[in-house]
Amino acid sequence: MKLLVLCLIVIANVSYNGKASIESIDPGNTNILLTDTTKNADKSCYRPCKFNVKPRRCQYNFKIEPTVGDDGRPTLVINDMTTGPPIHVCVNDIVIVKVQNKVPGQDMAIHWHGVEQKGTPYMDGVPMVTQCPIGFGSTYEYAFIASSPGTFFYHADAVAHQSDGVYGSLIVDQPQPLEPHSSLYDFDRSKEHTLILAARFPEMLSGNLDGKQLKPDSLVINGEEKSMKIFVIPGYTYRLRLINAVAVECPLIVDIEHHNMIVIASDSKPVKPMSADKVMLYPGERMDVVVEAVHKSGGYWVNVRGGNECEGLTAHGMLLYSGFNYTSLLDQGPGVKTLNSDVLTIDEKIISGQRLLSLQEENLSKDVKSIYLAVDKHVIPFNDKDNDYRYLSDVTPKKNFYPAAVSLQDRGVVQINNKNFLYPNDPYLIKPRSVRPDTICNVGDEMMNKQLQCLQVLKIHDKKVVELVFINEGFGSNDSYTFHMHGYSMRVVATGQSKDGKPISKSEFQLLDKRGKIERNLRNPPIKDTFIVPNKGYTILRLNADRGGSWMLECRSCGFFSLPVAILIDVPITIPKSVVDVLPKCGSYKPADVLLN
Ligand SMILES: *[C@@H]1O[C@H](CO)[C@@H](O)[C@H](O)[C@H]1NC(C)=O
Ligand SMILES: *[C@@H]1O[C@H](CO)[C@@H](O)[C@H](O)[C@H]1NC(C)=O
Ligand SMILES: *[C@@H]1O[C@H](CO)[C@@H](O)[C@H](O)[C@H]1NC(C)=O
Repeated sequence: MKLLVLCLIVIANVSYNGKASIESIDPGNTNILLTDTTKNADKSCYRPCKFNVKPRRCQYNFKIEPTVGDDGRPTLVINDMTTGPPIHVCVNDIVIVKVQNKVPGQDMAIHWHGVEQKGTPYMDGVPMVTQCPIGFGSTYEYAFIASSPGTFFYHADAVAHQSDGVYGSLIVDQPQPLEPHSSLYDFDRSKEHTLILAARFPEMLSGNLDGKQLKPDSLVINGEEKSMKIFVIPGYTYRLRLINAVAVECPLIVDIEHHNMIVIASDSKPVKPMSADKVMLYPGERMDVVVEAVHKSGGYWVNVRGGNECEGLTAHGMLLYSGFNYTSLLDQGPGVKTLNSDVLTIDEKIISGQRLLSLQEENLSKDVKSIYLAVDKHVIPFNDKDNDYRYLSDVTPKKNFYPAAVSLQDRGVVQINNKNFLYPNDPYLIKPRSVRPDTICNVGDEMMNKQLQCLQVLKIHDKKVVELVFINEGFGSNDSYTFHMHGYSMRVVATGQSKDGKPISKSEFQLLDKRGKIERNLRNPPIKDTFIVPNKGYTILRLNADRGGSWMLECRSCGFFSLPVAILIDVPITIPKSVVDVLPKCGSYKPADVLLN
């Protein structure tokens, strides 16, 4: 007994010291770009995370190139892998990724989905917003601090590149005692127990300019349609990490035969544990679940089923108890039906991220400014001059990557406040003065601009808390949309649909809100970077703009060959000249490693 007490005291001490030391590191003050980040770097940083140890520099080299898979399918690979190399680090490690673009004729950038980019907003990976795109044959060195723990992933910024295979997991671990839910599971082996879910297309999407409407034709778990395996020992509990890495509108439902799941985190943030038969993840969402090996032995299918663009598609993996010979499981095959759209709406046992509650209790102020954003699909007359500057650079010939004509043909385009987003002519974050002023329009005043597309900017002053109120009006479509916020997690304080199932305009909604008809959860809303705005409905988010940067808030699923649907949230910051000088320039591009010497 004495010994046990002693142990507990020691552990308590270590935890206390550990917390103190982790908090004393201020990533914002470390200018990691100006130090040579490649010196003393580790190739792999996967290890048990400990208190009171120096963070490591974790270096990875990514070579991205086209290839033809064993099944004859053309894809993009990172280091010859069809799901990119997994990155596993401990909180506060410095992640350094040298990205080499070997895809002929294509510019590229890699976004670190969910990463805050504290002190390094220029590492967020959005071409023409936070950086110059990485031209064919060039290298860009990303370096950032893994400042908060949880399940993340990385992907090419362009939907086409991500869909062709440029994505992978990024897991940030922390010392076990700091995990709020560690008492709920025995094993957290992120290397074996991360399931990255993706869709494959019959043809390569990169550089596909003919506007053919392609749909995914298969789903995969860690790159496999049927052979992913999780091994468990009876009686133990396991933390699994699920990532929806699809870039088009494919909600995915995951279940494990004869096993319950307890959801413990959504988009890397801990939630109140919630039991579920099935969980649903929208594109870009992550969810951590605990599964108990409640049976004595056997093998059970892990089922992934797609909705919307992926309706009718499935992928399967196996949960195998130790010693079980899975040949019989394979012989018998997965017995599940594919989804029809009814299941998505009526099955109440499906838990999705937006329905969870944050673990952290708060007392959010009632008194914040609301900014209303109307989202809907509109049919618009097409104008030849409507350009997307996203991929204009000296590296690729001057051509428009997404011809506006394609998306405007017949079915219309999704818009925010009746505009489509225009990528700037120069990176907004690092060269704001070079951005053509006539292309910029302020959110709320978009109508002052006569063009179809403008650079929609919402300026929020540092330390301000604002409410972003998305209304998916539903006059022009019956679709719900998934949005992703770069650099920040936001509190989802309200979401819902119009009661009568009728379309609702922004002004109607504003009136309802003014009358106090829209309730908000100001106590424990889920904290998310990826969220859904339901059709004929709304989602209200609290943003605490406490870090400077130019942050995209974008819909990645509002139509594939379409004009961008996004706004740029600009929290003013001046990037020091010393940093701007070493960042690669558009056109006169030099590999980052040269610049660092
Ligand atoms: C598993 O079962 C199959 C057929 O039932 C058999 O051929 C195979 O040898 C078994 N594998 C092991 C490792 O026992
Ligand atoms: C929340 O804050 C308000 C004002 O700041 C205060 O009046 C109220 O009592 C607080 N509520 C709780 C539950 O702490
Ligand atoms: C939306 O659904 C309703 C009811 O099913 C249908 O009448 C309407 O045409 C649909 N709207 C669009 C734009 O598809």
